[in-house]
Amino acid sequence: MNATATGGEHMGAEDARPIAVASDHGGFDLKSHVLAYLADQGLEAADLGTRSRESVDYPFFAAQVARGVQAGTYRLGILVCGTGLGMSMMANRYRGVRAAVCSSAYTARMAREHNDANVLCLGGRVIGTGQAEDILRAFLDQPFAGGRHARRIACLDEDLP
Ligand code: RB5
Repeated sequence: MNATATGGEHMGAEDARPIAVASDHGGFDLKSHVLAYLADQGLEAADLGTRSRESVDYPFFAAQVARGVQAGTYRLGILVCGTGLGMSMMANRYRGVRAAVCSSAYTARMAREHNDANVLCLGGRVIGTGQAEDILRAFLDQPFAGGRHARRIACLDEDLP
């Protein structure tokens, strides 16, 4: 089966591919917490940087994760910057990548159930670690509903003006 990022067919617990995680300086501390949480859950993650709180440009890190998800190397991506916004803007430029900024468990659940989001974006200056764990749990546990939602997300990848 095609392993590129087109639908939710690879989202089950049986999918052994790692989760790509990256941040800029604004998300560095929360990224460390995300990596610890994933390890605690027994989930394999690839840390694609950044490696310190030194100022860096978020588009580079968003692109690393988006390319890997698009290619099917990673089953999901998690991106953290100050707000999650810049990361999502960059990641969503890649066809087949559906990045969602989530600041609640509800939006995370809906991002998966309705939008088949394959990249979760978090704001390291917006949410705390407890909230981030709630969001991660919701995002990782919720399957895509398919049906009418599959038709709608297919529209996202149609040719743009
Ligand atoms: C960096 O200061 C900040 O702009 C970045 O982390 C992010 O919030 C951009 O969307």
